[in-house]
Amino acid sequence: MKGIILAGGNGTRLSPLTKVTNKHLLPVYDRPMIYYPIQTLVDAGITEIMIVSGKGHAGHFLELLRSGSEFGAHFSYGVQEEAGGIAQALSLCEDFSDHKKVMVILGDNILEDNIRAAAQAFEKQDRGAKVFLHSVEHPQHYGIALLEHNKLTKIVEKPKENLGNLAVTGVYMYDSQVWDVVKTLKPSGRGELEITDVNNFYVQQGTMTHEVLNGWWGDGGESVDSLLEAANLVAAKRRQQKS
Ligand code: DAU
Repeated sequence: MKGIILAGGNGTRLSPLTKVTNKHLLPVYDRPMIYYPIQTLVDAGITEIMIVSGKGHAGHFLELLRSGSEFGAHFSYGVQEEAGGIAQALSLCEDFSDHKKVMVILGDNILEDNIRAAAQAFEKQDRGAKVFLHSVEHPQHYGIALLEHNKLTKIVEKPKENLGNLAVTGVYMYDSQVWDVVKTLKPSGRGELEITDVNNFYVQQGTMTHEVLNGWWGDGGESVDSLLEAANLVAAKRRQQKS
């Protein structure tokens, strides 16, 4: 399976921190934010990784991350010209994928869990996709999963009404059908190609599986508070590892 990290977008929610740099290069405790999703992929056994960044700071990503050898990985780079949405950034990775299965992580997602076993399970899954769920305090900021008898029936992006608090995290696994699905997407109300539309395609097809993350999970880009929370979680973990 190949790995993809999506680190485009504008990061306006973190302004002024993102006025002269990119959100994914900001520090989360002792490392730049993007180091965490990279480590998640490498820990899952995935070392062929494409990193998509926005046009403004693409050179900084290359300077920071270079070939990937520091991580025991090999990096390829892509540039998303405009912040057209997560699924639009993903669509740039079709050639890189070689039509193998892919694990996609949003560049601002920080996970405690090692998801190697889930990656192995997805390699064995006949077809379809897999998402990872985690409970959240502010469901209106996320894609929320609706479950019936532990089966995913729908994902609602940033619901205004109360639909529960089980968020779809920014970690996704797809088979090669994803490249056909992204070509059918239409921009949403916020003018973006939505990853939730991709996921709902697989849900409706009946080929979506899911797992619940046990450890903490943070979306470091959601707000300055979530950035601080992610840093605190990482700091606590490091202290735990040292003791
Ligand atoms: O973090 C999990 C959430 O991520 C999910 O629960 C939502 O379903 C999903 O839509 C997404 O929501 P966000 O509102 O947090 O997405 P955001 O616009 O902040 O983008 C998250 C990352 O995706 C960002 O760090 C970089 C990448 N991205 C985003 C956009 C809009 C791109 O690479 N290109 C883009 O055009």
